[in-house]
Amino acid sequence: MIDVVAARADTPGAAFVTHFNNAGASLMPRPVVDAVTEYLTEESRCGGYEVAEARADELRSVYDTLAVLIGSDRSEIAITDSATRAWDAAFSAMTFHPGDRILTTASEYASNAIAFLQASKRTGVSVEVVPNRPTGEIDPDALDRMIDDRVRLIAINHVPTNGGLVNPAAEVGRVANAHGITYLLDACQSVGQMPIDVDAIGCDLLSATSRKFLRGPRGAGFLYVRNAMLEYLEPAVLDLHGARWESLDCFAMRPDARRFELWERSPALVLGMGVAARYAVDIGLGAIWDRVSELGAMLRSGLRDVSGIRVHDVGSVQGAIVTFTVEGRSAVEVKAALHDTAINVSVVTPTSARFDMEERGLPDLVRASVHYFNTEQEIERLTAVVARL
Ligand SMILES: Cc1ncc(COP(=O)(O)O)c(C=O)c1O
Repeated sequence: MIDVVAARADTPGAAFVTHFNNAGASLMPRPVVDAVTEYLTEESRCGGYEVAEARADELRSVYDTLAVLIGSDRSEIAITDSATRAWDAAFSAMTFHPGDRILTTASEYASNAIAFLQASKRTGVSVEVVPNRPTGEIDPDALDRMIDDRVRLIAINHVPTNGGLVNPAAEVGRVANAHGITYLLDACQSVGQMPIDVDAIGCDLLSATSRKFLRGPRGAGFLYVRNAMLEYLEPAVLDLHGARWESLDCFAMRPDARRFELWERSPALVLGMGVAARYAVDIGLGAIWDRVSELGAMLRSGLRDVSGIRVHDVGSVQGAIVTFTVEGRSAVEVKAALHDTAINVSVVTPTSARFDMEERGLPDLVRASVHYFNTEQEIERLTAVVARL
């Protein structure tokens, strides 16, 4: 059981706002804020390179913590500045030829879909959406039936940007592994929200961010690369950190996942992400998942009881993200009205997940995303404010 009172006391922002935008960027806990600000202060006093040298062990330990968070080896982690950088570093390392196929899911995130379209334009690879089960999540049996020897990549999200859906990532992994197809999982919205074990899921590549359910600072993310994949993957962008200039006409890539990193980064943010990951691991990802899925269900049920509100989440498993519309009010108006009462939510537009939102004919949606430090009273307040609109 999570001690919610203690969690809130350790969250400076909880005193100022009712924060239901954890799928955008969550409120950082105090140890994360302290780690980042102290590091920056030290940089301002001692010099950026000097602090990085003095605190090298601490910075290196971030890889260990992230590895614990997702059940990988530290050598399989690359730190990036966002989830998209991580995802793109992996995707752009793959080569496609005309006739090759990429299989994805209806709820795929816009940035990934744009990268698919770009690859399709450049290489002739085709991009196909796997049908969903009637309950709304990707159908692993349908995926299995679509496989042939031209499928090069299965790339899906674990939790989409636009709803509470949790895709059956491990079932998809079993299909991918049975056919020996590379499996790239966008875990941007699931890391920090639920337990993640890359071996149980069976993904080869996984991308994640610091700022959402992990509660780290903005401007950091990471990529997991299964060790066995390193044989096949050469990053599209390599610098003197990812590779070594060995002789005048020769370079050698790093043997580990850090070949996907660039040399320059903000160590303060890297450290902050590490502290956030440790904080989540210490609370327990199982306990976090229990609470966010309960609060998510409570919010959905409260909203459904209000006339004129429609909840749009699908999926047989649903988590922390709740999306809804209010009759006669645009999502932007609802967000503004909530903002006036110090309640933070966000708006998701059809352009953020077009395969899904066009298929379901959805307009802009209000997205309220809970975290374990939210309270039942906050959920009641949100529902009451929306009911009065
Ligand atoms: C499902 C999903 N994937 C990827 C991203 C991109 O993450 P980032 O903005 O850190 O690149 C988001 C951001 O909202 C997302 O919701």
